[in-house]
Amino acid sequence: STTPRLFSGMQPSADSLHVGNYIGALMQWREMQQNYDAVFCVVDLHAITVPQDPALLRQQTRRTAAQYIAGGIDPEHSVLFVQSQVPAHAQLAWVLNTITGFGEASRMTQFKDKSAKQGNDSASVGLFTYPILQAADILLYDAAVVPVGEDQRQHIELTRDLATRFNSRFGDTLVVPEVQIQKETAKIYDLQSPESKMSKSATADSGVLWMLDEPSKTAKKIKSAVTDADREIRFDRGEKPGVSNLLTLHSTFSGTSIADLEAQFEGKGYGDLKKEVADVVVAEFAPVRERALELLDDPAELDRVLSRNAERASDMAEATLARVYDRIGF
Ligand code: ADP
Ligand code: NA
Repeated sequence: STTPRLFSGMQPSADSLHVGNYIGALMQWREMQQNYDAVFCVVDLHAITVPQDPALLRQQTRRTAAQYIAGGIDPEHSVLFVQSQVPAHAQLAWVLNTITGFGEASRMTQFKDKSAKQGNDSASVGLFTYPILQAADILLYDAAVVPVGEDQRQHIELTRDLATRFNSRFGDTLVVPEVQIQKETAKIYDLQSPESKMSKSATADSGVLWMLDEPSKTAKKIKSAVTDADREIRFDRGEKPGVSNLLTLHSTFSGTSIADLEAQFEGKGYGDLKKEVADVVVAEFAPVRERALELLDDPAELDRVLSRNAERASDMAEATLARVYDRIGF
């Protein structure tokens, strides 16, 4: 086909995705799957680069996949699979390990950040070679475009370098992907500490809007969101991070511009804003949550969907791996 191939993925690092993941990833993917031959992956091999509890990992992987589908990824149209079910990822990663320079890998700034957080000595070699596995993910599917945020640019550049190096050593084999830095999507901040990004690894649950939260809980969290001491409903990230975050949430789901919202809420109180934000977020999430719970209620069927998709992914990935193995003399 002439439709360009796209690859993207997310780690199964929590039981539920949050509203930031929904806006920053799922909503984009749902849109892009119309125009690309899209492959979406739950990257559990990446997840084990830091310690995981086995039972929890299995549960989070299933739940993440269910939320991809509930959020609009169509597993009959796009490919949606679990990374560990396609052995070619680990196999190509090994080959790429052997053509990556130690110094080159050592320059990856995300490893420096993540390992510093863990205390350098306890970081695994897997965490160090994480970007090489990521390169394998992309190259196995001949992905032409890889939509990522600015923080992933260095890893995609490494992927391009490795593909180019392999091709020049062994002959034209791998598709060199384009880096497509995603247009800045709205960033969502923690409801309780609105100067930090909303994150799966947040310490306080009350600051995070989980997709699988009950609607009443979602509304309650929004109504308890931290704002500020004045009364003005105005977008100002620096001075009014809490109110700005609420305006972003409203605008993203209602489609009303921030400027129109500011005009609409002139003279009104934070309580009015919070009530409307709760309504638009709940309206968006309630059907997604219900669909996800339905899917999780029938784990056997969900597993069948995932294993069917793993086969579709394997067909693509093994074709690439066979080309690579042949070139290197296996
Ligand atoms: P988290 O920090 O919650 O673990 P990840 O780093 O796994 O999230 O990111 C998964 C996807 O969700 C990425 O595409 C990222 O851009 C998006 N994302 C994560 N947090 C937010 C947020 N607070 N606002 C907007 N997008 C986000
Ligand atoms: Na993260």
